[in-house]
Amino acid sequence: MKKDMIAEAQNILNDNFQEIGYSIPSKGLYPFQWKWDSGFIAIGFAHYDMEKAKKEMKTLLNSQWKNGFIPHIVFHIETDSYFPGRDFHLSKLHPESNLDYPSTGMTQPPVLGFTLEKMYEIATDKDDVLTFIKDNIDQVYFNHQYFYNKRDPQNEGLVYIYHNWESGTDNSPIWDDIWKTMNPPQYTFERRDTTHVNSAQRPTNREYDHYLDIIELAKEHNYDDAKIAALSPFLVQDPLFNSMLIKSNDAMINLYKLIGGNQEKVAQLEQWQAKSKASFNAKLFDKELGAYIHYDLRNEKPIRFVSSSSFSPLFAGIPSTEQAAIIINTMMTKFGGEDMYLCASFDPTSDRFNPEKYWRGPVWINLNWLLYYGLKNYGYMTIAARVKSDSIEILSKAGFYEYFDARKSEYTIDAKGYGGGNFSWSAALFLDMLEN
Ligand code: GLC
Repeated sequence: MKKDMIAEAQNILNDNFQEIGYSIPSKGLYPFQWKWDSGFIAIGFAHYDMEKAKKEMKTLLNSQWKNGFIPHIVFHIETDSYFPGRDFHLSKLHPESNLDYPSTGMTQPPVLGFTLEKMYEIATDKDDVLTFIKDNIDQVYFNHQYFYNKRDPQNEGLVYIYHNWESGTDNSPIWDDIWKTMNPPQYTFERRDTTHVNSAQRPTNREYDHYLDIIELAKEHNYDDAKIAALSPFLVQDPLFNSMLIKSNDAMINLYKLIGGNQEKVAQLEQWQAKSKASFNAKLFDKELGAYIHYDLRNEKPIRFVSSSSFSPLFAGIPSTEQAAIIINTMMTKFGGEDMYLCASFDPTSDRFNPEKYWRGPVWINLNWLLYYGLKNYGYMTIAARVKSDSIEILSKAGFYEYFDARKSEYTIDAKGYGGGNFSWSAALFLDMLEN
């Protein structure tokens, strides 16, 4: 590891922190506040500037809607350097949206519960952080209530996402078969991402037509959850998203017990938790593939591919010891060759694997971070150590980029960092892994 990497990571986080009290993920490419980014970023700040960690969380929570929903992007500033922006998403169409914070009408993985718990674990002044948690945790609970009440039409304890951007893994090959069920018009729009980043590393225009089409449909119905559940061509139970929800349930149970009182909320969380974990294992575990998979709720069929999301249930303590052994074996066989850094975002043995294109193959530090803790949870210390040292090696060779080539052969001359540079969560989660 290079000597000055800690200072560099802190500089990136400090630079990306905006006066209003939130961080941009990366200059130019992502000029607003993103939901799951903010959680990871707060964990990074907690290691050296707890006040910023609190502000990051607080600003995001301020954007919550009257129905408990927390949006995926909060458009704190006006700029035409990003598409699609506030005038496209029009969150104000929803009768319970937050008019003070223009946003998207979709969400992102629910990381806030476990972010609060991590902040507490990291804190040196525990009382101070517990007070902060006490003042804010109910909003996170309210957000989970929204998920269980509005996003689980068959009452299974598994929530759906209605857009690929809600998954956080935007253009994963997992969605390819869903795009085939749609035939959107060709929208006229001006991409902005490809003015910042090489288009070979980003989704295609035709893929964007599908993304925009789902939003148009949701807007036609003023972002009404029931209408979306009935009509969206994209309706998926995602193992990564549901793992984040379950881990955050767990974290809230622990934190409410620390705070004291709140018996009803703890009982409700425990009830959700039992049901969610049971359904997760019954429905999303694919024994033949040896992995957790996505389920297409619109077309009522499993989506049988292995991605880094397939291993995220380790982080939430969902698999049995036996299931953990099976999925870790799959991971090491398919993703863990000597010539590869852990962990590619999509099955490197699949013909859909693309090592340079966003979520179709590159390594992402946030998924590695989840995997690192997940493997430790189950006692796989050697593999956990490899995930950590691979992550540090990649970052030290390529810099704090957004995503990275998994093939070691690509690191001989040029560093292989892709997407946005000085990327906040790569810096934040590096700081956290280093301390653990
Ligand atoms: C990309 C990623 C998403 C992330 C966002 C901001 O859209 O796919 O996961 O939240 O960038 O960093």
